[in-house]
Amino acid sequence: MTSLAKFLSGLLGSAFEQNGLPADLGVVRVSDRPDLSQFQCNGAMAAAKQAKKNPRDIAMKIIETLSEKQEFKRLEVAGPGFINIDLTEDCIAAHTQAIASDDRLGLGAYPSDTVILDYGGPNIAKPMHVGHLRASIIGDCLRRVYDYAGYNALGDVHMGDWGTPMGQIISELELRGTLGQNLTMEDLEKIYPEASKACKADEKRADMARAATAKLQDGDADYIKVWQQFIDVSVAGMKANFDALGVHFDMWKGEACVHHLIAPMVNDLREQGLALDDDGAVVVSVASEADTKEIPPLILYKRDGAVMYGTTDLATIVDRVQEYNPSKIIYIVDQRQSLHFEQVFRVARMGGIVPNGTDLIHAGFGTMNGTDGKPFKTRAGGVMKLEDLIATGIDKAQARLDDANLADDIGPDERQDIAQKVAIAAIKFADLQNNRIADYVFDLDRMTSFEGKTGPYLLYQAVRIKSLLKKAAAQSMIMSNNFKIQDEDQVLALLLAEFPDHFDLALRNNTPHVLCDYAYKIAQSFSSFYSNCHILSERDEDLRASRLGLCSLTVRQLELILNLLGIQIPERM
Ligand code: ARG
Repeated sequence: MTSLAKFLSGLLGSAFEQNGLPADLGVVRVSDRPDLSQFQCNGAMAAAKQAKKNPRDIAMKIIETLSEKQEFKRLEVAGPGFINIDLTEDCIAAHTQAIASDDRLGLGAYPSDTVILDYGGPNIAKPMHVGHLRASIIGDCLRRVYDYAGYNALGDVHMGDWGTPMGQIISELELRGTLGQNLTMEDLEKIYPEASKACKADEKRADMARAATAKLQDGDADYIKVWQQFIDVSVAGMKANFDALGVHFDMWKGEACVHHLIAPMVNDLREQGLALDDDGAVVVSVASEADTKEIPPLILYKRDGAVMYGTTDLATIVDRVQEYNPSKIIYIVDQRQSLHFEQVFRVARMGGIVPNGTDLIHAGFGTMNGTDGKPFKTRAGGVMKLEDLIATGIDKAQARLDDANLADDIGPDERQDIAQKVAIAAIKFADLQNNRIADYVFDLDRMTSFEGKTGPYLLYQAVRIKSLLKKAAAQSMIMSNNFKIQDEDQVLALLLAEFPDHFDLALRNNTPHVLCDYAYKIAQSFSSFYSNCHILSERDEDLRASRLGLCSLTVRQLELILNLLGIQIPERM
């Protein structure tokens, strides 16, 4: 199946062809003036330019060619040569019925090859903070989108577990004489900033940390044992955070997993003449003549022999290609790391580390700012831990439920569950609705509101539809997919038919906000349908059954999209 716009593009495309014009000029879009027509095609203008003819004449010809088709209620030339298109009620009803009886709600087939999504990216021994929020939320959403499309979508957390911080902590423990003793996450959270501060202040101390990092990376058994402990306690904390957010990973790999691949990879790059010695370090120069800004070389080994962030990222590509042969690897990582990915991707291409058919994509995102427009901080000016942020969100959601008199007759456990769902919906939707690359303002007050373009508003609308359907079921009302399409029914039905196009756009550009915009439109359109049309009180039984069918389709659609966004709908509230 496809969307109505795609279906119409097919019809108009062949009409263009029958008139000796290119079929791709027949592209039909949902009209941007719904008051004038449902759909429009602007291809006659381009065709006229190519054929040096009058666009209105061409549009007329196309319309004549289509005159036998049953689907059209109205085909009209407008302005300089636009074709305005309205479909018959029967056509819309039949299409809506087809969507309603389709498990995928009209979505066509996608390839099934493997796509690896790299997101989350938490670092060992450091608490997860707001900086990891966007990477987790956007990445998990895109994984769901690829998965739903039909790809073999694999999410990898790619933990930072192999860099200098590891050596800083190990050397700190050594200095304190506590190396090998049991550690908790709280211990690590205290020790790491202290160790890092000490290393910044004192070059000798930093040298010790560097030596410890190199020794760890060399596989020193004692160090590895201590390091494994960092991993265990840190991962437990990460999992708690990701669970609370409802963010899933298929792989819990980290930088260290690929250490054994580094030496052979560097050798190979040496043999190709790409990796060169540079004052004791090993680097690959990646600059190209076409560059408009300076792209520095990628450092593979530092002078002390330690590997860098880029080295592990490259070796991770080796691993991913070997193990999974993906058609895409998508990195959902802060936009400020774009230079790093540019360097890594260039070396991967130059060195043949990645096959030509595999896309490497940095799906970067902007900064999350506070209401003061500066990077988000706690009241005290510190970095906010993720768990604190979620807890604050839940408190706020509770208060919002109280204000709106929602869920007031529901017991405390379920109410807590609802508040949790409202909070996560608020946080995720506020993040995902922005264009990925843009910075955005984290404003808990605004995003937890049940009004406006928010997650809670969408939940509220979805729950409202569910409760309406429950009422209808309790009264044994019939619900039918034999749709009767008129007035507002038509607006809603046409909107629901757009799903495959929005989904496709979100997938192709890795842009969740497209799905957010669409979900919001559905909720708004439902809201006006609900206030302008009789549903439970409709006397015409067929019309009532059709409207209930439309309600059911709407909530299925909303539930699917919210699910793709990683947002769960409570049963009631
Ligand atoms: N750990 C990194 C950080 O905190 C993010 C990792 C992103 N993924 C990657 N393959 N580099 O910045």
